[in-house]
Amino acid sequence: MPHLLSPIPRRAGHPRPLVIIGSQEKTLLGFRGRTAFQKLAKPFLFDRTLVGAAPNLTTARRQNRFWVDATRGLSARYTRGSFYKGLAATMRRAKITIVGAGNVGATCAHWCAAAELGDVVLLDIPQMEDMPKGKALDLMQASPIMGFDSRVIGTNSYADSAGSDVVVVTAGIARKPGMSRDDLLSTNAKIVTSVAQQIKATSPEAVVIVVSNPLDAMVQQVWKTTGFPAQRVIGQAGVLDTARYRTFLAMELGVSVEDISALLMGGHGDTMVPIPSCTCVGGIPVTQLIAPARLEEIVTRTRNGGAEIVALLKTGSAYYAPAAATAQMVEAVVRDKKRLIPCAAYCDKEYGVGGYYVGVPVILGTAGVEKIVELKLNESETQAFKNSVDAVKGLVASMEKLLQA
Ligand SMILES: NC(=O)c1ccc[n+]([C@@H]2O[C@H](COP(=O)([O-])OP(=O)(O)OC[C@H]3O[C@@H](n4cnc5c(N)ncnc54)[C@H](O)[C@@H]3O)[C@@H](O)[C@H]2O)c1
Repeated sequence: MPHLLSPIPRRAGHPRPLVIIGSQEKTLLGFRGRTAFQKLAKPFLFDRTLVGAAPNLTTARRQNRFWVDATRGLSARYTRGSFYKGLAATMRRAKITIVGAGNVGATCAHWCAAAELGDVVLLDIPQMEDMPKGKALDLMQASPIMGFDSRVIGTNSYADSAGSDVVVVTAGIARKPGMSRDDLLSTNAKIVTSVAQQIKATSPEAVVIVVSNPLDAMVQQVWKTTGFPAQRVIGQAGVLDTARYRTFLAMELGVSVEDISALLMGGHGDTMVPIPSCTCVGGIPVTQLIAPARLEEIVTRTRNGGAEIVALLKTGSAYYAPAAATAQMVEAVVRDKKRLIPCAAYCDKEYGVGGYYVGVPVILGTAGVEKIVELKLNESETQAFKNSVDAVKGLVASMEKLLQA
C-alpha cells in the first residue's frame, strides 16, 4: 500500500517543496520514483521550487517538507485521488492579512492580489465600519478584468485573519506636511501595541511585516509585544528607500531602472546610509558614472524622498511605492524566494548593534529573515551606520518613555 505522508508543516500554506522519496535529485532514478514524479508532481510545478527529491524519509523529514513515499509501491492510479486530497489540504493558498486598510494597506492588498500571492484579508478598526469590506469587494471586482484569482475580504474582526501566514501592519496615522516620522511616535506606538497583541492571539505562526512609522521603533515594539522570534518580525523600509534611490539614479543616467542595483542601510529616516560600493548600473560601479557631488545630491533627495511626496500630496504620505515594497517582501516569504534585500531586521551581535531593529541586507524567505548579511563597511560608512543606529536607539528610548507615561 503506498503511503502519502504529510508531516505537520512548520507553517501550512507556504508552497514548500514536495519531495518524492525514492527518486534522486539527478536522475530521478527508479521506476516508482519517476512515475510518482511524472504523474503526481508535474501538475503542481507552478513553482520551480515545489518539487524536489530525497533518497529517504529521514532526509525528507529533516527538510521538513511534504513528501510522497514512492519506495513503498506507489502506483499512480491509486495515489492520484488521495494525493490531490492530501495536497489540497496541506497546500492551501497563503493567507495574507493587512492590518490598516488605508492608503498603504489597500494598495498593498492590490499588489498582493494582482500577483496572486495568496488570499488577502484587509482589516481596519470598527470605527471605520464597512470601509475595508468596500475596498475588498471593489478589488475583487477587478479580478475578472485583471485575471487574478486571489480572494480578498474586508473586515473589522481579527477572527477573520486567524491563522495568517503573513501579517502586514500598516495601522496608524500617516505624516502630514511639516510632520517628521518621529512626530507619529506616541500615537502609532499605542496602535501597533494593540495590533501586535491581536496578531499574537490569532496568528501565532505568522511572519509579521511592519510598515507603520516611525518604522524602526514600531517594528521593535511589535517584536517585543508579540514575543515572536525576531526572525519572524521584520520592518519594511530598505526596499522602498532603495527603490527611490534606484529611480533617481535611473532618471539621472537615462537608463532602465532594471539595470540599477543598490543598497542603503541604517534607519528609515534622515540617517539612512548609502553604500556606493554596492551600487551598480549594469555592473558598472555608480561612482564611475556620476560625480561625487552629484551623487550626494541624489542621496539627499532619496533621504527626503518621503517628505518630498508628503509636500506634494498635502493630505497624506506616499503609498504606491511603499505598498509595492511591502508586497515584494510578502512575495519573498510566501514564495520562499530567498531575496537578498535590505530590511529592518533585529541585530544583536550583527554589526555590533546590540539588540535593535535597523536596516541591513538580509536573505528573506519562508522563515522570515533567514540570514543577516554582514558587509565590510569602510570607515565613513561605519561611522554613518553608527550614527544611524544611535538615532534608532534614541527613538526607541523616547517611545518607551512615552508608553510608560
Ligand atoms: N515604512 C515605510 O516605508 C512607510 C511608507 C509609507 C507610509 N508608512 C506608514 O504607514 C502607515 C500607514 O500609512 P497610510 O498612508 O496607509 O495611512 P492611512 O491613514 O491612509 O491608513 C492608516 C489606516 O490605519 C487604520 N488604523 C488605525 N488604527 C488602527 C488599529 N488599531 N487597527 C487597525 N487599523 C488601524 C486607520 O483607520 C487607517 O485606515 C503610517 O504610519 C505611515 O507613516 C510607512
